[in-house]
Amino acid sequence: MILLRASAIFLLALASLVPARGDAPQSASKAKPESVKATTKENQAGGSKPVSFMGDVAPILVRNCIACHNPKKSESKYVMTSFTQLAKGGKQCEGITLAPGKPDDSYFLDVLQPDAEPRMPYKLDPLPQDEIKLLERWVAEGARYDGTSSTEDWTFLLRKTRTVTIPEAYPVTVPITALAFSPDGQQIAASGYHEITFWKTADGVLDHRVAGLSERTYGIVYSGDGRWLATASGDPGQYGLVRLWSLGKGGVKPVRDLAESQDAVFAVAFSPDGKRLATAGADRIIRVYETETGKLLVQIEDHADWIFDIAFSPDGNRLASASRDKTSKVFDVVKKESLVTFTGHGQPVYTVAFSPDGKAVATGGEDNEIRIWTTEGEAKQVRGIGGFGGTVFKLRYSPDGNILAACSGDKSVRLFKAQNGSQVRFLAGHADWVYSLAFSPDSKTLASGSWDGEVRLWNLADGKPGQTIIAAPGFKPKAGGSHAAR
Ligand code: HEC
Repeated sequence: MILLRASAIFLLALASLVPARGDAPQSASKAKPESVKATTKENQAGGSKPVSFMGDVAPILVRNCIACHNPKKSESKYVMTSFTQLAKGGKQCEGITLAPGKPDDSYFLDVLQPDAEPRMPYKLDPLPQDEIKLLERWVAEGARYDGTSSTEDWTFLLRKTRTVTIPEAYPVTVPITALAFSPDGQQIAASGYHEITFWKTADGVLDHRVAGLSERTYGIVYSGDGRWLATASGDPGQYGLVRLWSLGKGGVKPVRDLAESQDAVFAVAFSPDGKRLATAGADRIIRVYETETGKLLVQIEDHADWIFDIAFSPDGNRLASASRDKTSKVFDVVKKESLVTFTGHGQPVYTVAFSPDGKAVATGGEDNEIRIWTTEGEAKQVRGIGGFGGTVFKLRYSPDGNILAACSGDKSVRLFKAQNGSQVRFLAGHADWVYSLAFSPDSKTLASGSWDGEVRLWNLADGKPGQTIIAAPGFKPKAGGSHAAR
Protein backbone atom coordinates (compact mmCIF):
# COMPACT_ATOMS: atom_id res chain seq x y z
CA MET A 1 0.00 0.00 0.00
CA ILE A 2 2.76 2.37 0.92
CA LEU A 3 4.48 1.58 -2.35
CA LEU A 4 1.29 2.19 -4.20
CA ARG A 5 0.92 5.57 -2.64
CA ALA A 6 4.53 6.39 -3.34
CA SER A 7 4.03 5.67 -6.99
CA ALA A 8 0.76 7.53 -6.95
CA ILE A 9 2.56 10.72 -6.15
CA PHE A 10 5.17 10.05 -8.76
CA LEU A 11 2.45 9.69 -11.30
CA LEU A 12 0.96 12.95 -10.36
CA ALA A 13 4.22 14.26 -11.75
CA LEU A 14 4.16 16.86 -9.10
CA ALA A 15 7.02 14.72 -7.98
CA SER A 16 7.87 12.35 -10.73
CA LEU A 17 11.37 11.09 -11.09
CA VAL A 18 10.60 8.91 -14.04
CA PRO A 19 10.28 11.23 -17.01
CA ALA A 20 14.02 11.13 -17.50
CA ARG A 21 13.81 7.41 -18.05
CA GLY A 22 12.54 5.32 -20.85
CA ASP A 23 9.70 3.93 -18.81
CA ALA A 24 8.04 7.29 -18.35
CA PRO A 25 5.26 6.88 -20.87
CA GLN A 26 4.31 3.51 -19.50
CA SER A 27 4.22 4.49 -15.88
CA ALA A 28 2.44 7.70 -16.62
CA SER A 29 -0.24 5.71 -18.34
CA LYS A 30 -0.82 3.59 -15.26
CA ALA A 31 -2.71 6.47 -13.79
CA LYS A 32 -4.68 6.76 -16.97
CA PRO A 33 -8.14 5.25 -17.02
CA GLU A 34 -8.06 1.99 -19.00
CA SER A 35 -10.79 2.95 -21.40
CA VAL A 36 -9.79 6.58 -21.59
CA LYS A 37 -7.06 6.46 -24.17
CA ALA A 38 -5.70 8.97 -26.54
CA THR A 39 -6.23 7.47 -29.94
CA THR A 40 -3.97 8.15 -32.83
CA LYS A 41 -4.66 6.92 -36.29
CA GLU A 42 -2.49 3.92 -36.79
CA ASN A 43 -1.89 1.90 -39.85
CA GLN A 44 -1.61 -1.86 -39.86
CA ALA A 45 1.63 -3.52 -40.86
CA GLY A 46 -0.17 -5.56 -43.49
CA GLY A 47 -2.28 -2.67 -44.82
CA SER A 48 -2.02 -1.42 -48.35
CA LYS A 49 -1.91 2.32 -47.67
CA PRO A 50 1.62 3.75 -47.75
CA VAL A 51 3.03 4.09 -44.25
CA SER A 52 2.93 7.67 -43.02
CA PHE A 53 5.63 9.03 -40.74
CA MET A 54 3.32 11.38 -38.84
CA GLY A 55 0.37 9.01 -38.81
CA ASP A 56 2.04 5.68 -38.14
CA VAL A 57 5.73 5.89 -37.31
CA ALA A 58 5.81 8.95 -35.06
CA PRO A 59 3.34 7.61 -32.47
CA ILE A 60 5.45 4.46 -32.08
CA LEU A 61 8.61 6.51 -31.59
CA VAL A 62 6.94 8.80 -29.07
CA ARG A 63 5.72 5.86 -27.03
CA ASN A 64 8.98 3.93 -27.13
CA CYS A 65 12.00 6.04 -27.99
CA ILE A 66 11.65 9.78 -27.38
CA ALA A 67 12.00 9.63 -23.61
CA CYS A 68 15.70 8.81 -24.18
CA HIS A 69 16.43 10.22 -27.62
CA ASN A 70 15.52 13.88 -27.20
CA PRO A 71 17.75 16.97 -27.10
CA LYS A 72 17.70 17.10 -23.28
CA LYS A 73 18.30 13.48 -22.45
CA SER A 74 20.20 12.12 -25.35
CA GLU A 75 22.05 9.44 -23.39
CA SER A 76 23.41 8.11 -26.64
CA LYS A 77 23.83 11.53 -28.30
CA TYR A 78 21.21 10.38 -30.77
CA VAL A 79 18.37 12.87 -31.03
CA MET A 80 15.23 11.81 -32.90
CA THR A 81 12.92 14.74 -32.42
CA SER A 82 13.62 16.37 -35.76
CA PHE A 83 13.57 14.28 -38.91
CA THR A 84 16.96 15.61 -40.03
CA GLN A 85 18.58 14.36 -36.83
CA LEU A 86 16.64 11.10 -36.84
CA ALA A 87 17.85 10.36 -40.35
CA LYS A 88 21.42 11.42 -39.67
CA GLY A 89 21.93 9.06 -36.76
CA GLY A 90 24.12 9.14 -33.68
CA LYS A 91 27.72 8.29 -32.99
CA GLN A 92 27.51 4.64 -33.97
CA CYS A 93 25.14 4.77 -36.87
CA GLU A 94 25.92 8.11 -38.47
CA GLY A 95 24.99 7.93 -42.12
CA ILE A 96 23.74 4.35 -42.04
CA THR A 97 20.74 5.04 -39.81
CA LEU A 98 18.12 5.24 -42.47
CA ALA A 99 18.76 3.91 -45.96
CA PRO A 100 15.58 4.88 -47.82
CA GLY A 101 14.22 1.88 -49.70
CA LYS A 102 16.76 -0.46 -48.07
CA PRO A 103 15.55 -1.81 -44.74
CA ASP A 104 18.52 -4.22 -44.53
CA ASP A 105 21.02 -1.36 -44.59
CA SER A 106 19.22 0.71 -41.96
CA TYR A 107 20.80 0.58 -38.52
CA PHE A 108 17.63 2.18 -37.17
CA LEU A 109 15.82 -1.08 -37.90
CA ASP A 110 18.69 -3.39 -36.84
CA VAL A 111 18.51 -2.21 -33.24
CA LEU A 112 14.84 -3.14 -33.01
CA GLN A 113 15.34 -6.86 -33.65
CA PRO A 114 14.76 -8.87 -30.48
CA ASP A 115 18.31 -10.29 -30.60
CA ALA A 116 20.09 -7.01 -31.47
CA GLU A 117 22.95 -5.80 -29.28
CA PRO A 118 22.34 -3.15 -28.08
CA ARG A 119 18.62 -3.59 -28.58
CA MET A 120 16.12 -0.74 -28.56
CA PRO A 121 14.13 0.33 -26.67
CA TYR A 122 17.16 0.10 -24.44
CA LYS A 123 16.75 -2.33 -21.53
CA LEU A 124 13.01 -2.54 -22.15
CA ASP A 125 10.86 -5.12 -23.91
CA PRO A 126 11.27 -5.26 -27.68
CA LEU A 127 8.60 -3.65 -29.82
CA PRO A 128 5.73 -5.90 -30.91
CA GLN A 129 6.42 -7.61 -34.26
CA ASP A 130 3.68 -5.70 -36.09
CA GLU A 131 5.24 -2.39 -35.10
CA ILE A 132 8.68 -3.49 -36.23
CA LYS A 133 7.14 -4.63 -39.53
CA LEU A 134 5.43 -1.27 -39.93
CA LEU A 135 8.72 0.61 -39.43
CA GLU A 136 10.41 -1.74 -41.92
CA ARG A 137 7.70 -1.08 -44.48
CA TRP A 138 8.09 2.68 -43.97
CA VAL A 139 11.83 2.41 -44.74
CA ALA A 140 11.16 0.09 -47.69
CA GLU A 141 8.73 2.64 -49.10
CA GLY A 142 11.40 5.35 -49.01
CA ALA A 143 11.44 6.53 -45.35
CA ARG A 144 9.58 9.68 -46.30
CA TYR A 145 8.82 12.52 -43.92
CA ASP A 146 5.31 13.91 -44.19
CA GLY A 147 5.46 16.61 -41.51
CA THR A 148 5.94 20.27 -42.39
CA SER A 149 9.68 20.84 -42.26
CA SER A 150 12.41 18.27 -41.69
CA THR A 151 14.11 20.46 -39.08
CA GLU A 152 11.00 21.09 -36.96
CA ASP A 153 10.36 19.22 -33.72
CA TRP A 154 7.86 16.70 -35.07
CA THR A 155 6.85 15.62 -31.57
CA PHE A 156 5.20 19.03 -31.07
CA LEU A 157 3.51 18.75 -34.46
CA LEU A 158 2.23 15.31 -33.51
CA ARG A 159 0.76 16.59 -30.24
CA LYS A 160 -1.06 19.33 -32.08
CA THR A 161 -2.50 17.19 -34.82
CA ARG A 162 -3.41 14.04 -32.98
CA THR A 163 -7.02 13.27 -32.17
CA VAL A 164 -7.72 12.59 -28.55
CA THR A 165 -11.01 11.00 -27.62
CA ILE A 166 -12.34 12.38 -24.39
CA PRO A 167 -15.14 10.20 -23.07
CA GLU A 168 -18.61 11.71 -22.73
CA ALA A 169 -18.81 10.01 -19.35
CA TYR A 170 -15.65 9.29 -17.38
CA PRO A 171 -15.30 5.63 -16.33
CA VAL A 172 -13.03 6.69 -13.46
CA THR A 173 -12.17 9.95 -11.77
CA VAL A 174 -9.00 11.95 -12.43
CA PRO A 175 -6.82 13.67 -9.83
CA ILE A 176 -7.75 17.30 -9.28
CA THR A 177 -4.40 18.92 -9.85
CA ALA A 178 -5.71 22.43 -10.57
CA LEU A 179 -8.69 24.55 -9.62
CA ALA A 180 -9.78 28.16 -10.17
CA PHE A 181 -12.92 30.20 -9.54
CA SER A 182 -14.29 32.21 -12.45
CA PRO A 183 -14.04 35.99 -11.92
CA ASP A 184 -17.77 36.19 -11.02
CA GLY A 185 -17.38 33.29 -8.58
CA GLN A 186 -20.20 31.33 -10.20
CA GLN A 187 -18.09 28.56 -11.66
CA ILE A 188 -15.17 26.50 -10.61
CA ALA A 189 -12.76 25.29 -13.28
CA ALA A 190 -11.12 21.93 -12.60
CA SER A 191 -8.44 19.85 -14.31
CA GLY A 192 -9.88 17.00 -16.38
CA TYR A 193 -8.51 14.45 -18.82
CA HIS A 194 -7.22 16.47 -21.81
CA GLU A 195 -9.76 19.12 -20.85
CA ILE A 196 -10.94 21.63 -18.27
CA THR A 197 -14.35 21.09 -16.74
CA PHE A 198 -16.44 24.00 -15.43
CA TRP A 199 -18.92 23.42 -12.60
CA LYS A 200 -21.58 25.70 -11.14
CA THR A 201 -20.64 26.58 -7.60
CA ALA A 202 -24.29 27.07 -6.59
CA ASP A 203 -25.42 23.49 -7.23
CA GLY A 204 -22.31 21.55 -8.30
CA VAL A 205 -23.72 20.84 -11.77
CA LEU A 206 -21.44 20.63 -14.81
CA ASP A 207 -21.69 23.83 -16.84
CA HIS A 208 -19.39 23.16 -19.78
CA ARG A 209 -16.16 21.52 -20.86
CA VAL A 210 -13.22 22.92 -22.82
CA ALA A 211 -11.04 20.35 -24.58
CA GLY A 212 -7.77 20.49 -26.47
CA LEU A 213 -5.25 20.28 -23.65
CA SER A 214 -2.51 17.85 -22.77
CA GLU A 215 -3.36 14.91 -20.60
CA ARG A 216 -2.98 16.63 -17.25
CA THR A 217 -3.55 20.20 -16.25
CA TYR A 218 -1.42 21.46 -13.39
CA GLY A 219 -2.33 25.12 -13.36
CA ILE A 220 -5.48 27.15 -14.10
CA VAL A 221 -5.55 30.91 -13.49
CA TYR A 222 -7.84 33.78 -14.39
CA SER A 223 -6.38 37.24 -14.83
CA GLY A 224 -7.47 39.85 -12.30
CA ASP A 225 -9.02 42.00 -15.03
CA GLY A 226 -11.33 39.14 -16.01
CA ARG A 227 -10.14 39.08 -19.62
CA TRP A 228 -8.01 35.96 -19.70
CA LEU A 229 -7.64 32.39 -18.58
CA ALA A 230 -4.32 30.53 -18.71
CA THR A 231 -3.65 26.81 -18.32
CA ALA A 232 -0.45 24.86 -17.73
CA SER A 233 -0.61 21.26 -18.81
CA GLY A 234 1.46 18.34 -19.93
CA ASP A 235 1.85 14.72 -20.82
CA PRO A 236 4.37 13.77 -18.13
CA GLY A 237 7.84 13.20 -19.54
CA GLN A 238 6.80 14.04 -23.08
CA TYR A 239 5.21 17.39 -23.60
CA GLY A 240 4.15 20.57 -21.88
CA LEU A 241 2.05 23.49 -22.96
CA VAL A 242 0.75 26.78 -21.64
CA ARG A 243 -2.36 28.00 -23.39
CA LEU A 244 -3.85 31.46 -23.16
CA TRP A 245 -7.65 31.72 -23.51
CA SER A 246 -9.86 34.75 -23.81
CA LEU A 247 -13.05 35.14 -21.83
CA GLY A 248 -15.88 36.81 -23.63
CA LYS A 249 -19.50 36.56 -24.57
CA GLY A 250 -18.75 33.55 -26.75
CA GLY A 251 -17.22 31.67 -23.82
CA VAL A 252 -13.67 30.44 -23.37
CA LYS A 253 -11.69 30.71 -26.63
CA PRO A 254 -8.07 29.67 -27.25
CA VAL A 255 -5.85 32.65 -28.12
CA ARG A 256 -2.36 31.21 -28.38
CA ASP A 257 0.05 28.59 -27.11
CA LEU A 258 3.12 29.58 -25.11
CA ALA A 259 6.06 27.81 -23.53
CA GLU A 260 5.87 24.52 -25.39
CA SER A 261 8.39 22.10 -23.95
CA GLN A 262 9.49 18.49 -23.81
CA ASP A 263 8.07 17.98 -20.36
CA ALA A 264 5.15 19.18 -18.29
CA VAL A 265 4.54 22.83 -17.40
CA PHE A 266 3.38 23.00 -13.81
CA ALA A 267 2.59 26.62 -13.07
CA VAL A 268 1.10 29.76 -14.57
CA ALA A 269 0.58 33.12 -12.88
CA PHE A 270 -0.75 36.45 -14.09
CA SER A 271 0.76 39.68 -12.85
CA PRO A 272 -1.82 41.47 -10.66
CA ASP A 273 -2.79 43.77 -13.56
CA GLY A 274 -3.13 40.83 -15.95
CA LYS A 275 -0.67 42.35 -18.42
CA ARG A 276 2.01 39.69 -17.98
CA LEU A 277 1.87 35.93 -17.71
CA ALA A 278 4.60 33.85 -16.06
CA THR A 279 5.12 30.15 -16.66
CA ALA A 280 7.39 27.47 -15.17
CA GLY A 281 7.77 23.72 -15.18
CA ALA A 282 9.96 20.71 -15.66
CA ASP A 283 12.38 22.52 -18.00
CA ARG A 284 13.48 24.66 -14.98
CA ILE A 285 12.89 27.90 -16.85
CA ILE A 286 10.66 30.76 -15.75
CA ARG A 287 9.28 32.72 -18.69
CA VAL A 288 7.35 35.96 -18.54
CA TYR A 289 5.20 36.95 -21.53
CA GLU A 290 3.23 40.00 -22.44
CA THR A 291 -0.33 38.68 -22.27
CA GLU A 292 -1.77 40.75 -25.09
CA THR A 293 0.93 39.98 -27.68
CA GLY A 294 2.56 36.77 -26.47
CA LYS A 295 5.95 38.48 -26.62
CA LEU A 296 8.56 36.83 -24.39
CA LEU A 297 9.77 39.51 -21.98
CA VAL A 298 11.97 37.65 -19.54
CA GLN A 299 13.48 34.20 -19.33
CA ILE A 300 15.11 33.07 -16.10
CA GLU A 301 17.08 29.86 -15.83
CA ASP A 302 18.30 29.61 -12.27
CA HIS A 303 16.80 26.53 -10.64
CA ALA A 304 18.60 23.20 -10.80
CA ASP A 305 15.42 21.14 -11.01
CA TRP A 306 11.71 21.28 -11.81
CA ILE A 307 9.74 24.34 -10.80
CA PHE A 308 6.37 23.44 -9.30
CA ASP A 309 4.89 26.82 -8.49
CA ILE A 310 5.37 30.54 -9.09
CA ALA A 311 3.76 33.70 -7.68
CA PHE A 312 3.91 37.39 -8.50
CA SER A 313 4.43 39.92 -5.73
CA PRO A 314 1.43 42.21 -5.17
CA ASP A 315 3.21 45.05 -7.03
CA GLY A 316 4.03 42.75 -9.95
CA ASN A 317 7.76 43.50 -9.84
CA ARG A 318 8.97 40.25 -8.33
CA LEU A 319 8.33 36.57 -8.85
CA ALA A 320 8.76 33.81 -6.29
CA SER A 321 9.32 30.17 -7.26
CA ALA A 322 9.15 26.74 -5.61
CA SER A 323 11.39 24.00 -6.91
CA ARG A 324 12.22 20.34 -6.59
CA ASP A 325 15.82 21.51 -6.10
CA LYS A 326 14.76 22.14 -2.45
CA THR A 327 14.86 25.92 -2.75
CA SER A 328 12.51 28.79 -3.27
CA LYS A 329 13.78 31.92 -4.98
CA VAL A 330 12.68 35.47 -5.54
CA PHE A 331 13.50 37.28 -8.78
CA ASP A 332 13.23 40.89 -9.79
CA VAL A 333 11.43 40.53 -13.12
CA VAL A 334 11.97 44.16 -14.06
CA LYS A 335 15.74 44.18 -13.51
CA LYS A 336 15.89 40.51 -14.51
CA GLU A 337 17.97 39.40 -11.54
CA SER A 338 17.80 36.86 -8.77
CA LEU A 339 17.27 38.49 -5.37
CA VAL A 340 17.24 35.76 -2.72
CA THR A 341 17.31 32.00 -2.33
CA PHE A 342 15.59 30.29 0.57
CA THR A 343 17.02 26.88 1.44
CA GLY A 344 15.19 26.25 4.73
CA HIS A 345 12.97 23.38 3.61
CA GLY A 346 15.82 20.99 2.85
CA GLN A 347 13.27 19.02 0.78
CA PRO A 348 11.51 19.65 -2.53
CA VAL A 349 9.39 22.79 -2.33
CA TYR A 350 5.95 22.44 -3.96
CA THR A 351 4.22 25.71 -3.45
CA VAL A 352 4.83 29.39 -2.97
CA ALA A 353 2.73 32.48 -2.26
CA PHE A 354 3.58 36.13 -1.63
CA SER A 355 2.13 37.62 1.54
CA PRO A 356 -0.50 40.30 0.84
CA ASP A 357 1.90 43.09 1.91
CA GLY A 358 4.61 41.72 -0.39
CA LYS A 359 7.19 41.61 2.40
CA ALA A 360 7.20 37.88 3.04
CA VAL A 361 6.92 34.65 1.11
CA ALA A 362 5.16 31.49 2.29
CA THR A 363 6.41 28.14 1.03
CA GLY A 364 5.44 24.53 1.63
CA GLY A 365 6.79 21.18 0.58
CA GLU A 366 7.88 17.67 1.23
CA ASP A 367 9.19 18.46 4.72
CA ASN A 368 5.51 18.76 5.79
CA GLU A 369 5.98 22.37 6.89
CA ILE A 370 4.95 25.85 5.91
CA ARG A 371 7.74 28.37 6.22
CA ILE A 372 7.24 32.10 6.14
CA TRP A 373 10.37 34.06 5.34
CA THR A 374 11.37 37.60 4.56
CA THR A 375 12.67 38.65 1.20
CA GLU A 376 14.51 41.73 2.33
CA GLY A 377 18.26 41.30 2.61
CA GLU A 378 19.03 37.64 3.25
CA ALA A 379 16.19 35.16 3.12
CA LYS A 380 15.34 34.61 6.78
CA GLN A 381 12.63 32.41 8.20
CA VAL A 382 10.28 34.35 10.45
CA ARG A 383 7.80 31.56 11.13
CA GLY A 384 7.38 27.86 10.69
CA ILE A 385 3.99 26.17 10.72
CA GLY A 386 4.22 22.45 11.34
CA GLY A 387 1.75 19.79 12.33
CA PHE A 388 1.13 18.42 8.84
CA GLY A 389 1.16 14.67 8.44
CA GLY A 390 2.17 14.87 4.78
CA THR A 391 3.54 17.06 2.01
CA VAL A 392 2.16 20.58 1.82
CA PHE A 393 1.05 20.72 -1.82
CA LYS A 394 -0.55 24.13 -2.17
CA LEU A 395 -0.61 27.42 -0.28
CA ARG A 396 -2.77 30.39 -1.20
CA TYR A 397 -3.68 33.68 0.47
CA SER A 398 -7.31 34.78 0.30
CA PRO A 399 -7.92 37.76 -2.05
CA ASP A 400 -8.80 39.93 1.00
CA GLY A 401 -5.42 39.05 2.48
CA ASN A 402 -6.76 37.69 5.76
CA ILE A 403 -6.26 33.96 5.40
CA LEU A 404 -3.51 31.60 4.37
CA ALA A 405 -4.90 28.25 3.23
CA ALA A 406 -2.85 25.07 2.89
CA CYS A 407 -3.67 21.58 1.69
CA SER A 408 -1.71 18.44 2.27
CA GLY A 409 -0.99 14.80 1.66
CA ASP A 410 -2.47 14.19 5.10
CA LYS A 411 -5.91 14.78 3.46
CA SER A 412 -6.49 17.99 5.37
CA VAL A 413 -7.08 21.59 4.43
CA ARG A 414 -6.02 24.13 7.05
CA LEU A 415 -6.66 27.82 7.42
CA PHE A 416 -4.30 30.19 9.20
CA LYS A 417 -4.46 33.85 10.07
CA ALA A 418 -2.30 35.54 7.46
CA GLN A 419 -1.06 37.98 10.05
CA ASN A 420 0.36 35.67 12.68
CA GLY A 421 0.12 32.13 11.36
CA SER A 422 -2.27 30.90 14.03
CA GLN A 423 -4.57 28.13 12.87
CA VAL A 424 -8.19 29.15 12.48
CA ARG A 425 -9.66 26.00 10.99
CA PHE A 426 -8.93 22.39 10.23
CA LEU A 427 -11.13 21.25 7.35
CA ALA A 428 -11.55 17.48 7.32
CA GLY A 429 -13.53 15.52 4.78
CA HIS A 430 -11.32 14.63 1.85
CA ALA A 431 -10.58 10.91 1.67
CA ASP A 432 -7.37 11.34 -0.28
CA TRP A 433 -4.38 13.60 -0.75
CA VAL A 434 -5.42 17.20 -1.34
CA TYR A 435 -3.48 18.84 -4.17
CA SER A 436 -5.22 21.97 -5.24
CA LEU A 437 -6.82 25.02 -3.68
CA ALA A 438 -8.63 28.10 -4.91
CA PHE A 439 -10.32 31.03 -3.18
CA SER A 440 -13.46 32.61 -4.59
CA PRO A 441 -12.87 36.23 -5.63
CA ASP A 442 -15.03 37.47 -2.71
CA SER A 443 -12.93 35.46 -0.21
CA LYS A 444 -16.08 33.72 1.09
CA THR A 445 -15.51 30.25 -0.32
CA LEU A 446 -12.52 27.97 -0.60
CA ALA A 447 -12.35 25.06 -3.05
CA SER A 448 -10.05 22.10 -2.55
CA GLY A 449 -9.35 19.22 -4.92
CA SER A 450 -8.03 15.76 -4.18
CA TRP A 451 -6.39 12.82 -5.87
CA ASP A 452 -9.64 10.82 -5.88
CA GLY A 453 -11.30 13.43 -8.08
CA GLU A 454 -13.33 15.34 -5.52
CA VAL A 455 -13.73 19.08 -5.37
CA ARG A 456 -15.02 20.32 -2.04
CA LEU A 457 -16.31 23.80 -1.39
CA TRP A 458 -16.01 25.27 2.09
CA ASN A 459 -17.78 28.22 3.59
CA LEU A 460 -15.02 30.31 5.13
CA ALA A 461 -17.21 32.16 7.60
CA ASP A 462 -18.04 29.04 9.61
CA GLY A 463 -15.80 26.33 8.08
CA LYS A 464 -18.86 24.30 7.05
CA PRO A 465 -18.67 22.10 3.96
CA GLY A 466 -20.65 23.21 0.94
CA GLN A 467 -20.97 21.34 -2.36
CA THR A 468 -18.93 18.24 -3.00
CA ILE A 469 -18.38 17.81 -6.71
CA ILE A 470 -16.91 14.72 -8.31
CA ALA A 471 -15.24 16.60 -11.13
CA ALA A 472 -15.48 13.78 -13.68
CA PRO A 473 -18.30 14.39 -16.16
CA GLY A 474 -20.87 11.60 -16.21
CA PHE A 475 -18.98 9.50 -13.70
CA LYS A 476 -21.18 7.09 -11.69
CA PRO A 477 -19.57 6.12 -8.40
CA LYS A 478 -19.89 2.50 -7.37
CA ALA A 479 -21.50 2.06 -3.99
CA GLY A 480 -18.85 1.90 -1.31
CA GLY A 481 -16.01 1.51 -3.78
CA SER A 482 -13.02 3.70 -4.28
CA HIS A 483 -13.39 5.53 -7.55
CA ALA A 484 -9.95 6.91 -8.08
CA ALA A 485 -7.90 6.16 -11.15
CA ARG A 486 -4.71 4.46 -10.06
C1 HEC B 1 15.76 3.78 -21.99
C2 HEC B 1 16.40 4.65 -22.93
C3 HEC B 1 16.26 4.34 -24.40
C4 HEC B 1 15.13 4.09 -25.12
C5 HEC B 1 13.71 4.02 -24.62
C6 HEC B 1 15.56 3.91 -26.48
N1 HEC B 1 16.90 4.07 -26.58
FE1 HEC B 1 18.00 3.98 -28.28
N2 HEC B 1 19.70 4.24 -27.19
C7 HEC B 1 19.77 4.36 -25.83
C8 HEC B 1 21.16 4.30 -25.41
C9 HEC B 1 21.65 4.40 -23.96
C10 HEC B 1 21.92 4.12 -26.58
C11 HEC B 1 23.42 3.91 -26.68
C12 HEC B 1 23.59 2.42 -26.54
C13 HEC B 1 25.01 1.93 -26.73
O1 HEC B 1 25.80 2.60 -27.34
O2 HEC B 1 25.27 0.78 -26.26
C14 HEC B 1 20.98 4.12 -27.68
C15 HEC B 1 21.34 4.00 -29.02
C16 HEC B 1 20.45 3.97 -30.08
C17 HEC B 1 20.83 3.96 -31.48
C18 HEC B 1 22.23 4.07 -31.98
C19 HEC B 1 22.58 5.53 -31.95
C20 HEC B 1 23.99 5.86 -32.36
O3 HEC B 1 24.83 6.03 -31.48
O4 HEC B 1 24.26 5.98 -33.56
C21 HEC B 1 19.69 3.90 -32.21
C22 HEC B 1 19.56 3.88 -33.73
C23 HEC B 1 18.59 3.86 -31.28
N3 HEC B 1 19.09 3.93 -29.99
C24 HEC B 1 17.27 3.78 -31.63
C25 HEC B 1 16.23 3.68 -30.74
C26 HEC B 1 14.86 3.48 -31.12
C27 HEC B 1 14.35 3.35 -32.55
C28 HEC B 1 14.14 3.43 -29.97
C29 HEC B 1 12.66 3.19 -29.83
C30 HEC B 1 12.13 2.00 -30.44
C31 HEC B 1 15.06 3.62 -28.87
N4 HEC B 1 16.31 3.78 -29.36
C32 HEC B 1 14.68 3.65 -27.53
C33 HEC B 1 18.71 4.52 -24.97
C34 HEC B 1 17.37 4.32 -25.32
